[in-house]
Amino acid sequence: MTRQGLRKPPIPPIRPLPFPDIQGFAIMAIEHTFSIIKPDATRRNLTGKINAVFEEAGLRIVAQKRIHMSPAQAESFYGVHRERPFFKDLVSFMISGPVVVQVLEGENAVARNRELMGATNPANAAPGTIRKLFAENIEANSVHGSDSAENAAIEIAYFFAGSEIVG
Ligand code: CMP
Repeated sequence: MTRQGLRKPPIPPIRPLPFPDIQGFAIMAIEHTFSIIKPDATRRNLTGKINAVFEEAGLRIVAQKRIHMSPAQAESFYGVHRERPFFKDLVSFMISGPVVVQVLEGENAVARNRELMGATNPANAAPGTIRKLFAENIEANSVHGSDSAENAAIEIAYFFAGSEIVG
């Protein structure tokens, strides 16, 4: 047998599989994520169009309110970006008009919402995403969505009491 013939077959790449329940259906995680419809979108009356994207994708809006953020709220919410050069402008933008803060519920809601939003910079966003459809630029990018389930819980608690979330 040639050395070629003795070679071990290549190890197939490990692919995470959804864990099937007893009926063979995949068990998916029902999650909550936090969303903001930003001032550029409320100014152009796009709340309904953006909500339609969420709902058509199977995400349920289980809490929602239209608020005008205070400077302190915006600074604290985006505190992780405090040292970034765009921080001051970002805070000014977020308090420039009303926003709609929301809790979205659904299977893998955090990742699903990030897919629906598209890249932060609309110039890099995929066709059909909210930011490609509606965003004006990297700052006025129409929507915010949590980047992890852990941050979603923190962001939701920042704007909503548990009693306001009605699934
Ligand atoms: P968001 O997902 O809300 O999180 C941080 C926000 O900072 C981001 O969307 C943008 O609106 C805003 N931002 C402004 N300038 C930049 C930049 N150069 N890089 C990343 N985010 C930016």
